[in-house]
Amino acid sequence: MKIVVIQGPNLNILGHREQGIYGSMKLEDIHAQMENVAKQNNITIEFFQSNFEGEIIDRLQECLGDANGIIINPAAYTHTSIAIRDAISALNIPVIEVHISNIYRREEFRQKSLIAPVCSGQISGFGPFGYHLALVALMQILAEIEAINKRKTEAAKA
Ligand code: DQA
Repeated sequence: MKIVVIQGPNLNILGHREQGIYGSMKLEDIHAQMENVAKQNNITIEFFQSNFEGEIIDRLQECLGDANGIIINPAAYTHTSIAIRDAISALNIPVIEVHISNIYRREEFRQKSLIAPVCSGQISGFGPFGYHLALVALMQILAEIEAINKRKTEAAKA
């Protein structure tokens, strides 16, 4: 089982960036915590951060036939990128959108996500803990998919 975590622009400077909004935790520390939880659950987890829209799309495309699920914080591209939305739509694996801040209580331009309608769910406003919530939710979704597939295989054999 493999999960890929994709982080959009300016998330590489978490811990320095607008601490009142995003907190003081660094991206490496968030990823280290996720890696621990994934390990405990026998899940392979990979992390990717880019400040470039095209690189995020390339990484999403690489998930085709390779990853079982994705956690993505598209950062500012959440509000602008039809291309990232289309890349997610092209994958038929569960994708969870995460935002550290509550985008619905911020500026009006942040209150619309072009990405949410093509995701299994969205987590917004729980700080860095949102990544942990997303991982737990995604593991649950993947376990359900696995159970359904197992039942199908058994029914086909019978
Ligand atoms: C963000 C919210 C976006 O509006 C913003 O552009 C970000 C971070 C968040 O995690 O709260 O860069 O995605």
